[in-house]
Formats: sequence, C-alpha cells, structure tokens
Amino acid sequence: MWRSLRLVSALGLCASAFAQSSTVDSYTSTESPIAKAGVLANIGPSGAKSSGAYPGVVVASPSTTNPDYLYTWVRDSSLVFKMLIDQYTSGQDTTLRAHIDDFITAETNIQQVTNPSGTISTGGLGEPKFNVNETAFTGAWGRPQRDGPALRSTAMITYATWLIANNNESYVTDSLWPIIKLDLDYVMNNWNETTFDLWEEVDSSSFFTSAVQHRALRQGSALATAIGQSSVVSGYNTQANNILCFLQSYWNPSPGFMTANTGGGRSGRDANTVLTSIHVFDVEAGCDDVTFQPCSDVALSNLKVYVDSFREIYGINSGIRADQAVATGRYPEDVYQGGNPWYLASFAVAEQLYDALIVWSNEGSLTVTDASFPFFQQFDTSITPGTYSSSTPTYSTLTTAIKNFADGFVAMAAKYTPSGGGLAEQYTRSDGTPTSAMDLTWSYASALTAFNARAGKISASWGAAGLSVFPACSTSKAPTVPVVFNVNVTTVVGQNIYLTGSVGALTDWSTTNAILMSSADYPIWSTAVTLPANTQIQYKYIIVDNGGVTWESDPNNEFTTSVSGITTLNDVWR
Ligand code: NOJ
Ligand code: NOJ
Repeated sequence: MWRSLRLVSALGLCASAFAQSSTVDSYTSTESPIAKAGVLANIGPSGAKSSGAYPGVVVASPSTTNPDYLYTWVRDSSLVFKMLIDQYTSGQDTTLRAHIDDFITAETNIQQVTNPSGTISTGGLGEPKFNVNETAFTGAWGRPQRDGPALRSTAMITYATWLIANNNESYVTDSLWPIIKLDLDYVMNNWNETTFDLWEEVDSSSFFTSAVQHRALRQGSALATAIGQSSVVSGYNTQANNILCFLQSYWNPSPGFMTANTGGGRSGRDANTVLTSIHVFDVEAGCDDVTFQPCSDVALSNLKVYVDSFREIYGINSGIRADQAVATGRYPEDVYQGGNPWYLASFAVAEQLYDALIVWSNEGSLTVTDASFPFFQQFDTSITPGTYSSSTPTYSTLTTAIKNFADGFVAMAAKYTPSGGGLAEQYTRSDGTPTSAMDLTWSYASALTAFNARAGKISASWGAAGLSVFPACSTSKAPTVPVVFNVNVTTVVGQNIYLTGSVGALTDWSTTNAILMSSADYPIWSTAVTLPANTQIQYKYIIVDNGGVTWESDPNNEFTTSVSGITTLNDVWR
C-alpha cells in the first residue's frame, strides 16, 4: 500500500513536470515575439509606445502615472541594449543595426548633459535617469547610481568587440572608444564611493553595482589592449583587482548568501544578487565562485536563500511545497507599489539556473560542495558532496529536477501574464494581477534573456575565466557546516512544518520568517541549512495552520554543530 502510494505520487510529479515543461515551451514561443515587440515599441523615435523619445532612447515604460516611467534610465537602457546587441552580434536578429547605432548616438549625447549629479567631468555620468528628449531630469532622486556607466560600457564594448572581428576597427578606435573610455574612467575613479543601489533606495556599496563595475573594467582593459590604447590598461586592471577583492566581502557565510548592500538595514536577501549572477555569466569561467558564476556554489546557495525569503510573504505562494518554485520580488521588505513579485525577478532566477545547466552540460559533470549542499538537497534528500559525472544517475536526477525548478519560475511568470502577453513591472502578491508600470521594457528584456538561456544560447565571454583575488586580499570568513533537519510529523491538509531557532540562519526564533520544510518525503519533513561551525544551537519545529502556530513541547532541542562535514538530525515531533 505504502509503496503503491509512493509510486502514484512519483508518477504524478513526473506527469506534472512534463506538463509544466510543455506549458513553458508554448509560453516561450508565444511570449518571445511579444516581448521583442514590447522592447522595440519603447525605443524612440518610431517605437509605437515611445512617446516622443529621441532616436535610440529607451523609455522605461510608457506609463505616465502611478508610476510615471516616461523617462530613460541608464541602467534599464543599457541592459536592454546589451540584450539587443547580443542578438545582433550572434546573428539571432540581423535587423537591429540601426537601433544599436541610434543607442550609441543617444548615450553619447546623454553623457554630455549637465545634470544634478554634475557635469561630464564632475560626476554627471552617475546620473540615473534623463528626460526622453535627452535633457536633464532635475527633480529629487536617489543619485548617483554608479552601475549605469558600467552597464553602458559593457553593452558598447560587446558591440565594439564584434565590430573589430568584423573589420571595423577604425570606427571602434575613432568613435566608440572615446565614449566607452569616459564611462570606464568614471568607474575606475569612483567605484569605491557610495552609490544608490539598482533599486534607487539604499545609499551605500551594492553588490550588483560592484560586480558590473568589475566586469566593465576587465572588458575595458581587454578592448584597450586590442586597439592599442595601452595607457589605460594598468589603471583599469589595478582597480578591477581591487573590486574583485571587495566583492568577496559581500558573502555572508551563514546561511550562505551575498548581502545586497553594505547599508540599508535589511536582511540583505535581494534579487540584486541573482541579477548579478546572470549579468556576469561567462560560460568560459565554469562554476567559478570568485566571480559568482551562476553554477558556483556561492551563487546556488544564494539563490536558495533569496527564493526562500519570499515563501511566507506573498499570498500567491501559500500552499506551494518548499522544493518548488515561487513568485519572487526585489527583496522581502519591499513596499514600493505594493512590494509585489516582479516579472524580471522570476525570470532572473530561471535564467541563473538555465545558465548553470549549460555549464554543467559543457563540463560533463556537476559538483556539490558543503556550501551548495542545501541547494542540491532540495532535489535529492540523499545527496552528498562530490562531483557527479554526466553518466551518473545522480547527475540526471539533479539536472532534471533543476530544469524543472527553473521552468517553475517561468511558469509562475506565465501564469500571471495577461492574455495578450503584456509584461508590467509587478504582479500582485495577493492574486497575481499585473500591476505598477505596464509594458516595462526591462521586464520584456528579462524574459528574452531567460528564454535564450533556456534554449542553451550564451552571450560572448568577457574574461571571467581564470581570475583570482590578489594574494593580500583577505577573504577569510567564519567557518560553517551544512546541517540537515529531518522531523517525522503526521499532519493534516493545510498544515506545514517550519524550523526556527537561536541563530540568524534559523531566523532567531521568528515564527513568521521561520524556514518552511519540504514534505517531499512525507511524513518526514526536511530542510538543510548552512550554520556556523562548532556552535551551540537551540531549535524547535512548529506547525503552522492558517497562521496559527503550534510549538513543539519544551525543552528546546539543542546540539553543537560539528567543526566540519554534514550533520543529519533525525527528529520526531514532540
Ligand atoms: C522610485 C524608484 O524608481 C523605486 O525603485 C523606488 O523603490 C521608489 N522610488 C521608492 O524609493
Ligand atoms: C524602479 C526600479 O527599482 C529601477 O531599478 C528601475 O531602473 C526603474 N524603476 C525604471 O524601470
């Protein structure tokens, strides 16, 4: 009886995974052209919704009230054009050349506009947004935002590199290089100054900003070398090395995530970090953790911690099992325009996982480390650290489950995409209705890059392979160990088991942020958490039923984590 029930439920899961995969197949094929048209409609002068934007100017969204997004942001525009430049240079769409050249003209003009952040030589390049006729926006705003020049130069360098390979070096040297150099010099000289983060709220240092600055300087130094502009190379390299060292300091070892900002007073769990991973992806760098590649153990651990932080806070996520995809947003504390799930955040999680699958398939193996163990344990409760070659059943089990998990995030966006395929900025936490800015250009671009990754397409490499921090860079962090919590509890429908306890990684005895456990092996509820090593920990399981909390009886469970290696706790509810 027990066996046959298990078999039925296993078959049920396979069947639903299969159904999901074909739903996502059909969503990607219908949504792709809609998203592409959505992007182009928001680019001046002839985009159908570009409302007066100058040639090559990207409107963030045609929405003019609540919120008014009829402006052009350097970040949004650069990310959008990086996607279009990748499509053009890879031959995916050979019709985009005029748009790209317009973009270069527009940004060349915008660079020169004196604005509240300064003139071109006194900090104006850090200005985040402009009017769509290329004049300064002079209202109050979170400025400067220093990711803009980095993202813009990365987009242009990608184009420049392709032009060089296609016999147009003189145009690069004479026309593109001077523009690119302005942005790179700004990054080189200012990366260590505080900045508003990509969400325009926190003024400190920010992981995404630092990471894209690092990438820009590496690419800039390679381009400068290629075209004989050797005078800038050592300055760019020196600061790239400094940023790479600084980047390591964002890592929070327990429970294992990149803290998004050095300021801000939040938990630090933020789509900032997942976006970083996809925007620094370089297939040649493998699963390198120094540059936070999508399949690195740190980026996978981070993905789980980020995703899990949304399980309890959105109504539309309730009832979803702990090992399944959920709707995710910018960060759990968000209140902007309702603080809802964002389409681009859902697509980013999927894209990171698709990128990881590409690399594992290239390399013919995947590696589970102590740091990535809690991520992988979601998909195979008996997994142990090690390297699994693509010929092993474990590799197949894991990659199949991870592909499914990734598809789950696209399916989430698909479920809340209205008929017609328009993508707004957000979908409500209560019932998934599209909300905030409609036709957000960045939402469309994020769908397209995720779809490409799902199809196995990769962007040009940028030189992430083989980088390491310089010897004097101190990266030591408190040691941690993975701990598996298993508890046997018989529950009724509607009840879920959570873990809470005495350290931050166990949510400091919170009942509202406690860790949802997976019922994949019901009646065993399971979760894995990265905890400080050699530390006394107290914990309890709780049953949550419609918001009502039932604690295990006293006393608290207590143990001391090991110095190294995985510990598995097999408990029975009391
Ligand atoms: C407007 C910004 O666009 C948004 O990112 C931010 O969350 C809100 N202001 C609130 O500060
Ligand atoms: C608000 C977002 O937080 C920010 O990242 C974006 O640049 C603007 N909206 C425009 O889309």
